[in-house]
Amino acid sequence: MESLSQAWHVNSRCINCMASRTMAPALIKEVGNRSVFVRQPATAEEETAAWRALQVCPTAAVEAPSYLAKPRDLFPQDLGEGVFRLGYNAKSSYGAHSYFGVVDDVRFMVDAPRWSAHLASWIDGKDGLDHILLTHRDDVADAARYAKHFGARVWIHEADADSAPFATDVMRGGNPPAPFPAMKVLGVPGHTRGSVMYLLNDHTLFTGDSLAWDPERDALNGHREFCWHDWATQLASLSKLREQTFSRVLAGHGGSITLSPERMRAELEAMLAAS
Ligand SMILES: [Fe+2]
Repeated sequence: MESLSQAWHVNSRCINCMASRTMAPALIKEVGNRSVFVRQPATAEEETAAWRALQVCPTAAVEAPSYLAKPRDLFPQDLGEGVFRLGYNAKSSYGAHSYFGVVDDVRFMVDAPRWSAHLASWIDGKDGLDHILLTHRDDVADAARYAKHFGARVWIHEADADSAPFATDVMRGGNPPAPFPAMKVLGVPGHTRGSVMYLLNDHTLFTGDSLAWDPERDALNGHREFCWHDWATQLASLSKLREQTFSRVLAGHGGSITLSPERMRAELEAMLAAS
């Protein structure tokens, strides 16, 4: 039998946060309340996906074969249209994904990773950071340190604001003002009382933990099992997304996806009908 050190595997430190599965959904599945490699990478692309799974894991539970050297520059991962996945997911946010973007000369982060000198240097190379946009109380991670380092403004809804006492911009109501013209804020209470989504250019929807793509079912998913405030309220919030146009979902927990606006609308309707 192949020894574990010669194969990709997930060790007992796994906290079942989903982060690694969202990076390599064809290779890593949930088995018995933890992540498990169901097969080894078969192509260079799959091997890169496995390395990204290793890098996002907040507990160092994903291990590579000992004969492989870790590639450089796995993160930030360019997702197109000026948006990057930051990686370096924090255990304090239960492994939530965070993002960075540049639009109209404004630099923003959505939720925060753990502190990383590599990321700070990379952000310096993008001429710094103007705004940290927090989706809700769970995914704050090391936002305070990034905000202090870059002198960035920090946005959070008042109902979750006790989780980020360093915030400079506390948002109120269901449709708070935009932090900058390209970015709408959508109040989506439910997962937490103060959950919001951020909609960039009527295209990219940063959903926090209120909506994600489930690669196992090929469907949108509101994470009912992780709804901390009120599921009926969350469903009402998600139904209001019918008023918006978007074609890319970038999630905190769970998978992300780009579809046509029409297919995204149909997937939203399918999720609401099944809920
Ligand atoms: Fe959350």
